[in-house]
Amino acid sequence: IGRRLTVRDIVARKGKDPVVCLTAYTTPIARQLDPHVDILLVGDSLGMVLYGLPTTLGVTLDMMIAHGQAVVRGSTQALVVVDMPFGSTQESPAQAFRNAARVMAETGAGAVKLEGGREMAETIAFLVSRGIPVMGHVGLRPQSVNTQGGFRAQGRDEAEAQGLIDDARAVAEAGAFSMVVEGTVAPVAERMTQAVSVPTIGIGASVACDGQVLVIDDVVGMFMDFTPRFVRRYATLGPQVGEAAAAYAADVRARRFPGPEHTFPARSA
Ligand code: KIV
Ligand code: NA
Repeated sequence: IGRRLTVRDIVARKGKDPVVCLTAYTTPIARQLDPHVDILLVGDSLGMVLYGLPTTLGVTLDMMIAHGQAVVRGSTQALVVVDMPFGSTQESPAQAFRNAARVMAETGAGAVKLEGGREMAETIAFLVSRGIPVMGHVGLRPQSVNTQGGFRAQGRDEAEAQGLIDDARAVAEAGAFSMVVEGTVAPVAERMTQAVSVPTIGIGASVACDGQVLVIDDVVGMFMDFTPRFVRRYATLGPQVGEAAAAYAADVRARRFPGPEHTFPARSA
């Protein structure tokens, strides 16, 4: 409230200016990104990127709340959206509301995001009608890696494509103010974007989407275990951190650090 972007500002971008989104998980990174983006997404990708988990399935609501608080503290302009982790929404609309309400109340974020298509439409409508703005997440859904058969591009055959378009429509009709479209072949991402009146925010879903999102650690070269095809890397911070540590270690071992300028002298007489 005040000068932060709201979900209404995001909806109004449809058919106009692209929506710019990056993930953020910490206060210092949020501070750097806030002047440049419309949305800071506290993604459950933090499980893999920050905690070294093999998938996002082990991320907890308490982890999302802690990092959501950090990102809200580090930003003043962007809309902050916090991911609902695996297991926190799927049981029932009531369970999803209880957990999403904790996220909203304890972090001060402006919205939550939850993965799912037609099967989550009732839950999305339940949350939105009770005061919690929801960003959808359709196409490739990392929380469903075990049922989707690994991480593979979605929409390669027409039956699957039609299902994705139906998902996008259902999520929009349920009241989501926007939706992430992940890992979806270009022509289908374009059809999904045309099918809904709220912005689609693509990741690995072509330039046809109404906005784009990437994981910040991929963008700055901090997470380099693997770099998906859809990432453009703008910096190489990971190796720079290693180089800094190596230079520090060499200085300490050679007694070149600390120098006189880093040392408290005795009070001069
Ligand atoms: O968790 C995440 O970072 C996400 C984005 C990649 C959309 O869901
Ligand atoms: Na996510």
